[in-house]
Amino acid sequence: MAQQRTKIKELLSNGTEGKTYTIKGWVRTKRENKNVAFIALNDGSTIKNIQVVADPAKTSEEVLRKITTGAALAIEGTLVASQGQGQSVELQAHSIQVLGEADPEKYPLQPKKHSLEFLREIAHLRMRTNTFGAVFRMRHAMAYAVHKFFHEKGFVNLHTPIITGSDAEGAGEMFRVTTLDLDKLPRTEEGKVNFKEDFFEKETNLTVSGQLEGELGALALGEIYTFGPTFRAENSNTSRHLAEFWMIEPEMAFVELEGNMDLAEEMLKYLIRYALDNCTDDLEFLDARAAEEEKNKPQVERNELGLIERLRFILDNDFERLSYTEAIEILKNSKPNKKKKFNYLIEEWGADLQSEHERYLVEKHFKKPVILFDYPAAIKAFYMRRNEDNKTVRAMDILFPGIGEIVGGSQREERYEELKERAAAIDIHEEDLWWYLETRKFGTAPHSGFGLGFERLMLFVTGMTNIRDVIPFPRFPGNAEF
Ligand code: 4AD
Ligand code: MG
Repeated sequence: MAQQRTKIKELLSNGTEGKTYTIKGWVRTKRENKNVAFIALNDGSTIKNIQVVADPAKTSEEVLRKITTGAALAIEGTLVASQGQGQSVELQAHSIQVLGEADPEKYPLQPKKHSLEFLREIAHLRMRTNTFGAVFRMRHAMAYAVHKFFHEKGFVNLHTPIITGSDAEGAGEMFRVTTLDLDKLPRTEEGKVNFKEDFFEKETNLTVSGQLEGELGALALGEIYTFGPTFRAENSNTSRHLAEFWMIEPEMAFVELEGNMDLAEEMLKYLIRYALDNCTDDLEFLDARAAEEEKNKPQVERNELGLIERLRFILDNDFERLSYTEAIEILKNSKPNKKKKFNYLIEEWGADLQSEHERYLVEKHFKKPVILFDYPAAIKAFYMRRNEDNKTVRAMDILFPGIGEIVGGSQREERYEELKERAAAIDIHEEDLWWYLETRKFGTAPHSGFGLGFERLMLFVTGMTNIRDVIPFPRFPGNAEF
């Protein structure tokens, strides 16, 4: 079996009937009788299996016995037209080698329906299922499309640090990075931990955002984007939060809030179009899967549109843009607010919006994506540009059906005095953030950017409903297995 392996995707789309090929992959199912054995083999290159036909008379009994669900095989055979239904070609095996057995008594992925909760516990194997194979192939396609989009627009991919000494979002929910011996912490004279003795000689943490460094890049390179892991230690055990997630953060010099919204809308539409154009097989599978799941939901919670229809709908509609103030008016007068159905009732201007409010606006009121802008300064980060009214800042959030907030961004405060004041108000001092403030002293310029939560995008394009199912190895409170 010297021949190089051909990937099943390639074989199914470009294979020549009558030619001999070597394929390698994992057994999904085997059916056999005295005269013939059918093996469905999958190698991860496509959601489709290839049907392998083996002659039991020409295959050793030992090999036949070891061909069970999950086993890894190398097969050489001839590609022929298939007699059976469900596939146009199949591989007539000449020789089968068992590379790795999978004891049927112990292999957890027997061919039956498994719950997503169960599959999360076996994340080391779940990528071998149709669902997770499709999700992670699509995750790759989306990551590629992100780079393609920004590259085509002339943005520079900037690698910002993962270990930082600053708290970009001012939320304080950070994972500490230290090499200090926790059993023997060095102390200062006042009895505090002495971080001068730590590896970096100062307090450090895992980044909550690459934005601050991204801004430095934009004020030199013009237009940049980051795409990296992001860490938040908020104890939010929800289906939309991870402790480790991936964020895409573009930053543009000489662009104000309007242009920022335009870029975000263009990017989201580009990524969704890319999925529709390039992930057809996986999307069709996930569409059918999502439709199946819908049947288990109560009527009122069901989606009016299927997965692929929801993606098309995004492309066909402009996002609704409205101010926070307008949104509060709509929410105040909404049925769930009047009937006290919201968990958090909207009583006055200034209230922070919860995901129930965001979803009401998107799913019930406008029935399309919404961009909210000009939020109260008090509920947004210190670096957002203050408006003339002195109450609101040039923030924008994009809200998506079924997801809530998918993008958060703003025009940045480019005026030195204003920025220094806002930072000080939340106890960030010049000595902590001198390098960030300095860009406002030397050649400052209006600039804007946003962050797209990559897993929130993945939820939307795959129709999965729990964020733990769109990242290979999710990190969340109480879980860092694998
Ligand atoms: O709204 P956020 O916190 O904004 C920022 O971090 C800014 N620095 C972005 C910028 O302007 N450059 O986060 C941005 C997005 C959210 O809209 C959400 O999609 C995602 O990141 N996100 C999370 N995704 C998964 N798990 C979490 N814990 C997340 N927190 C935020
Ligand atoms: Mg946000």
